[in-house]
Amino acid sequence: MEKQLCAILLFCSMIMAMPVVHGIDESPQAVEKWFQSLSMMKEKVTKLHFYFRDQVSGKNPTAVGVAQANCTSRSLTFFGLVRVMDNALTVGPEPNSPIVGRAQGTYT
Ligand SMILES: *[C@@H]1O[C@H](CO)[C@@H](O)[C@H](O)[C@H]1NC(C)=O
Repeated sequence: MEKQLCAILLFCSMIMAMPVVHGIDESPQAVEKWFQSLSMMKEKVTKLHFYFRDQVSGKNPTAVGVAQANCTSRSLTFFGLVRVMDNALTVGPEPNSPIVGRAQGTYT
C-alpha cells in the first residue's frame, strides 16, 4: 500500500512538472534575452582558430576503431563503428606546427 502511494505521488509530481519543463523557451533568442537580463554580465567574444589533426589510417593514426556492429563491415558509411581519438590541435596546417591543445574522446 505504501509503495503504491509513493508510486502515485511520484507519477503525479512528474505530471505536474511536465508543463514547467516543456514551458521553458530554449530558442537562441530566448537564451540571448536571458543572458541580457543578467546583471553584471558583459558579452565577451573569443575567437579560436586552430587545425584539428584527425588521422584515421597510416602508420600513426590518431583515431582507431574500438567497437563495431555486425553490419559495419558491409556499410559504406561505417555505420556502427565507434572510434577513440587523441587528436592534436595545431596553430597551422603544417605537420610540425605547434600543438595548442588536444581533442580526445569517442565518436561514431
Ligand atoms: C554478430 O556476429 C556474431 C559473430 O559472428 C554472432 O555471434 C552474433 O549472433 C551476431 N549478432 C547479430 C545481431 O547478428
